[in-house]
Amino acid sequence: MMRNKKVLAAAGLAALLIAGCTSPPDNAAGSASTTGSAPATGAPAPAPAPPPAPVAVSTPTVAAAPDLEFDKAKAQKGYADVKKLGKNPVAGDVEATKAGATLFATNCVSCHGAEGHGDGPAGMSLNPKPRNLTAFADYQFGKGDLGIFRTIKYGVDGSGMAPWEGRMTDDECWKVVNYVRTLQK
Ligand code: HEC
Repeated sequence: MMRNKKVLAAAGLAALLIAGCTSPPDNAAGSASTTGSAPATGAPAPAPAPPPAPVAVSTPTVAAAPDLEFDKAKAQKGYADVKKLGKNPVAGDVEATKAGATLFATNCVSCHGAEGHGDGPAGMSLNPKPRNLTAFADYQFGKGDLGIFRTIKYGVDGSGMAPWEGRMTDDECWKVVNYVRTLQK
């Protein structure tokens, strides 16, 4: 009996040793993985990417074909030239729209107001008044990209809406078009 017990004990010990032999690699693997992730928790975590700056622009909420009601500008300067251009080269370009927002703040809010409602201080005494650019229905010379581009570049005859040709490049005008399109409701 004693001998049997010893054998059993030896067998048990052997089992423990085997277990002991197999478990260290497990632990090693475990600690290796812990070690592997240690720098992330131990060392200062890399600074999280700063959240993107608040975007002051959205995509247009009103769908408008580029030439929607552009024919209403037939009697206005630059109509034929803009008709030939046919489309907005920066349509849908969000970066261009952001640049347009900045250009609008610099050049247009004095008359059209910070939010485009046509209530800027420099427009108060004008007749006709600066257009409320948020009112889609109120556009008289085209509601889409071509009409707005022509209005900006060549102005509106007999009104305070002076041409921006020579003060802004075509590229800048298109960027502002993108932004104005986002104001329309
Ligand atoms: C000096 C004041 C003044 C400034 C600055 C000005 N506008 Fe205007 N804008 C007007 C007036 C006035 C009208 C209305 C014209 C009319 O009713 O015939 C107008 C009309 C418009 C229209 C409407 C055209 C339509 O189809 O009805 C758009 C678009 C426009 N402006 C865009 C701009 C943009 C973009 C800028 C800046 C680049 C700008 N305006 C700067 C005075 C201004």
